[in-house]
This record gives sequence, C-alpha cells and structure tokens, in this order.
Amino acid sequence: MLHAAYLGSPHAHATLKRVDATRAKEAPGVRDLLVADEVDWLSDEISYEGQPVVALAADTAAQARAALELIDAEWDVLEPLLDPEEAVRRGSLIGEARRYERGDYERGLAEADVVVEAEFRTQTLNHNSLETHQCVCDWRGDGLDVYISTQYIWGVRDEIAEAFGLPADKVRVVCEYMGGGFGAKGVAGDYTFLAAELARRTSRPVRYAMNRREENMVAGNRNATIQRVTAGARSDGTLTVLGGEYFCALGWSGWLPSTAGPMQLLHACENVRTVEYGAKLNLPPMDAFRAPGFVEGTWSLECLLDKLAAELDVDPLELRRRNYTDADTLDGRPYSSKNLMECYRRAEPYWERRVEVRACSDETWKRGVGLASQIWYGGGGPPSYAWVRVGSDGRVNVVTAMQDIGTGTRTAMAQIAAEQLGLPLDRVEVQVGDSARGPFAVISGGSSTLPSMGPAVRAAAADAARQILEIAAQRFDVEERVLSLKGGKIVSSDGGSWPLEEITGLLQDGQILGKGARGPNPAGMRVLTFGVQVAEVAVDVETGEVVVEQIYAVHDVGRVINPLGARSQIEGGIIQAMGHTFSEVRLDDPRTGTILTRTLDAYKLPTIADVPKIVCELVDVPDEHLTNLGSKGLGEPPIIPTAAAIANAIRDATGAEVTSLPITREEILQALREARERERVAAGSA
Ligand code: MOS
Repeated sequence: MLHAAYLGSPHAHATLKRVDATRAKEAPGVRDLLVADEVDWLSDEISYEGQPVVALAADTAAQARAALELIDAEWDVLEPLLDPEEAVRRGSLIGEARRYERGDYERGLAEADVVVEAEFRTQTLNHNSLETHQCVCDWRGDGLDVYISTQYIWGVRDEIAEAFGLPADKVRVVCEYMGGGFGAKGVAGDYTFLAAELARRTSRPVRYAMNRREENMVAGNRNATIQRVTAGARSDGTLTVLGGEYFCALGWSGWLPSTAGPMQLLHACENVRTVEYGAKLNLPPMDAFRAPGFVEGTWSLECLLDKLAAELDVDPLELRRRNYTDADTLDGRPYSSKNLMECYRRAEPYWERRVEVRACSDETWKRGVGLASQIWYGGGGPPSYAWVRVGSDGRVNVVTAMQDIGTGTRTAMAQIAAEQLGLPLDRVEVQVGDSARGPFAVISGGSSTLPSMGPAVRAAAADAARQILEIAAQRFDVEERVLSLKGGKIVSSDGGSWPLEEITGLLQDGQILGKGARGPNPAGMRVLTFGVQVAEVAVDVETGEVVVEQIYAVHDVGRVINPLGARSQIEGGIIQAMGHTFSEVRLDDPRTGTILTRTLDAYKLPTIADVPKIVCELVDVPDEHLTNLGSKGLGEPPIIPTAAAIANAIRDATGAEVTSLPITREEILQALREARERERVAAGSA
C-alpha cells in the first residue's frame, strides 16, 4: 500500500504562477505525482487556504509528507474576501438569498406592545471527529474497493462511480467502524478521488489519511453567522411578529443551512419574515455539522425570547407555553406526534428551582437558571432495506449496508430484530458497512439512521418470523395464528411450546431469509423532534467566569429503542454544545484568511473538567403515525438548545445579555457593565 498526501495552498486567494515538482517526484519513496492540469481535484486558481495543488503517493506517509516540502511554487497572492456582509453587498453568494414570509410583518410589528431586537453572532467551528478523514482505495480488476470513514457508503459509491466512469456496482465501499463524523463525512472529498486516481495509476492500494492540521483546515466546518433578529408580543405574551436577517459565512463552497428554521417552526406566530444569505468567501468550505443552521438559529431565537420575556415581565417558560402550536406553523399540517408540552411539564421542577438557585448567590458568584426549547427534523424516510437471515441453529443475522457512525446503530438494530423474533440479544448478529454485502441504506445524517433503518429491520424480522411460524404450523399441525415467538421458543396460545431450533433445525444447510423495506412517512403530517433544556449556572461577576452546574434535558423523539444509547446521545450533544458555548472557535487571520487554530491545543474542545452534571429524560411515547416503530432520531436534537439555555441562565443570574459565541470572560464583563448601566438608567428614570 502507498500513502498519499497533497500540497495545500498556503494562501487563501492566489494564482499559481509556476510550480516545479521535479525534486519531489525524485524524492525517496515517491511513486507518482499529479499536478493541476491532470485531474479535476487539483487547482492552480486558489480560492481558500489548503485547497489541493499537487498530490503524490509514496511508500510511507512520512516520505509523502517530506516530498511535499520539495515542491517549488511561485504565487500571485490576491486580496481575499473574508467579510460575510461585504460579500453579500458585492453579490458573492452561494445560491440565492432565501426569503420567507407569512402573515403581514408590518401589521405584526404594529400589533406588538413590546418589540425587542438584537444582533447575535456565532463562530466558525470544526467538527474534530477523533478519527480524521481517511480512506484506502484499491483497484481490483476493473472495479474499485474503497475503505473509508464515512456517514454514507452508498453516496460515496455513486460519487466515485461517476467520477471514474464506472458502473456503480463496480465500486465497493466499506466502513465497518468509524471514529465520528458529526456531518463532515457525508461525501467522498478530494482526498478520496486523489487516492483513487493515484491507486489507478500506480496499480497499488493507496491510503490518504488527513492529519489534524488538514482536518482543522479543509475537512468542513460549521459556518459563522451574524443574525439580526426581532420579536414582538402583546402584553399578555402572545407573539405577534418574528423577523430575522441571517448572514452565513459559508466559505468557498457548500450550501445554505436553515438558520431561520427555528424562527419559522418553533413557536406559533402569524407574522414572520426571514431572509438568509450564504456568503461565498475565500475560506475553506463549510459542511453539515450536527443540526446545521438550527444550532445557530436557536441560539438567537431562544435568547431573544428571554429578552422579550424580561421586557414583558412574563415567565420565560410561560411565554413558550402561550405560544405553543399544535399544528405545523408553515402549512397547518398536524404533527405525527408532538409532546413538547409534556417536555415543559417535566422540566417544571428544574425550572422552579430558580428561586432557590438564585438565593445561593453571594457578592461574587451569582446563580441563575435558564431554559430553551428545541425543534428539529429527525423522522428519517424511505428507501432503506434490511435482510434477516435465520440459520438452522436458530441464530439470526441482520444484514444491511448501512454505516454505524458511532451512535450504537448496530446494537439498536440487534435489539429490534431480537424483540421481533422473541430471541435473546446474544443470538442476533448485525452486519453493516459494506455496499457489496447488503441492501441499500440511508445516509447517517439528519438524525435519520435509526428512524430509517429500524423499520426496515423490524419488517425483515417480521417476515422471517412469519415464515418460521408457517413452517411450524405445518410441522405441528396447528393453526398459524395461534403461534408466536417468545424467549427463543415457538409458543402456542393453547400452551404448546417448542424450542425454535426444532423448526430451524429442519432447514439443515438452508436458511430463512426475511426481507424488509422502510415504508413512507405519514402523508399530510409533519414529522419533527422536540425538547427543552434547563441550565443552572454560576457567574463570577468579578472575573466573568461561568460554571455550568447542571443541564437538565428532556427530549421527545418517539419510542426509545436503547435507553443507554439515547442517554449517550444527549450527553454527547450537551458536551459538544459546552465547547460551542465557551471554548471552541476557529480563528482566521483577518488580513490573509489563513487558519490560525489548526491543532487540538489551539482549538479547545471541552474536556471532562468542563462537563456539568447532566440529567436526561426521554418522553418515550411511540409516534403512532410514524412507521412500524414510532421512533425518531436523537443524534442532533440535544446539541440545539444548550447554548441558549446557558445564556438565558447567565441573564437570570446577572442581567447580562450575551449575544456572541463563544461566550468569553471579556464578553461577560462587558455585558455586566451594560446591564449595570441599564439598571442605573432605569433607576434614574423611575
Ligand atoms: Mo448531519 S450534520 O445531518 O450528519
């Protein structure tokens, strides 16, 4: 196997005037080298730092990296475009500006007794999956095997087939285990195409493994935002108007996430107007990142709602209840299920604690409680398929070509099949992660893996169960409808009971094969996920230090398949949100557009010392309209409301209004000064 590496542009915006790769080509271990005019994935017109310029393959990864150092390149360095508002002014956009309006915005403003406005900002964030982006490409005859850390083996298969002009089935994509993706591993990426091309030319397997510096530069990011938002309500708390202008700093390519989504969907409000701009900049391309858009949009919306609650002197939880909606705000469709009110009810004891929590404040440390609601997709959908194979020993194999992103999808699928077949879990194996060895399955994105795959697995297991019972009915000469599978046995309603192997054993070398497909989502209904989080914080008003003491999270995602796995998703989402709230930020040089935070000591992921006490609850009521399973996804919901809940708790504790992520001590101290100034003015005018 050879190891590939590429030279990324050191400049954010430049033209390659001249390149001399002779010395690199002759360096020890180097087997092949590609420059820009040979393939599509290299460029000499540079639009962001790290954009691939020259690629090569060598015997070892160290030799490949060393050879890159020998490339002589001469650049014309150009002025980079880095400011998203400037980009929007100049019309440097990805896609069109996205406008949405319902009702009459001006009337909504006129009807409001109180109107609040604010500007919120969010930072650029890196995914920093523990496993960096990587692949091995291996041509076998006229076909290509690709081993890759991916959230979507079928998508990678199709992308590569198209790029290399192959029938899709000539490409086999394998991902049995992976070290996380968080949205950044949905597509093949330049590195994979380059590895595949170098493998084709050298007739050797080629590995490309990004190092952490590449990962933090070009592997995708959550785009920064500037959000100007408005909310108005009558004095009783009824929202009359919501509006937002959203500038998304997308980098050189990508797509415009729905940052306005929470404003459009979360609360009932007749008059809503939003506009979203995707600024095209000389910065590395954004990618999906755990609830893209909704994380950023919920931050501004739910903080703004608490500002409104303060002005109205309405309890923030009550404000949300007053603006509750029982039908989809976009078109009035009913929800397939919605238990957000139940989430509010369960959150109440944690919310009520705020009197007691505030009372624990002293001169220096002020304590408070805040909450924020969550809405997101997560219903999954067709198509997705599964096979369930039952052998003569009564053991079961679930086969489906999905990937387990690290959420425990394998275990959940085993549980579903085991329960449907009345078998202990240890008699079920699950095979995933190989496009040549199982039927099509969805992308692990949009919190959709379990709600898409689970129903297919359940249907396949039910198909196998039906076949087993049909054989049993003939064998034991009873009616099929009196039989069922329980505890590894075939049981009859009149008390008969036979070990499963008594039937499966008849198969000898044969197998029972059950097949299942994911059916459609309910027609005319809206499938969404809901939740609420309550944060308790302590703020040192002298230093601006914030300690998050506790996060209570209650989420409504329909039926919970694996409570331990679900809890792990909630904890993971909240911990990642802690990083987004306080410490993580990709810093770009404002003059050159080069990335400053390339390593894990510069880019501060949360550690165990940053983790608050986390209390999780799940409503766990199956969605009776959604599939044969009634389950929605939970990968994304828990990260959505955390930052706003924390900021609202900071407001509750101190009166300080923080509007910019990550929340720094400087920002807290500045916000405290402004809060004291507001109090002084208010006291003066009273
Ligand atoms: Mo996701 S951010 O839909 O993988």
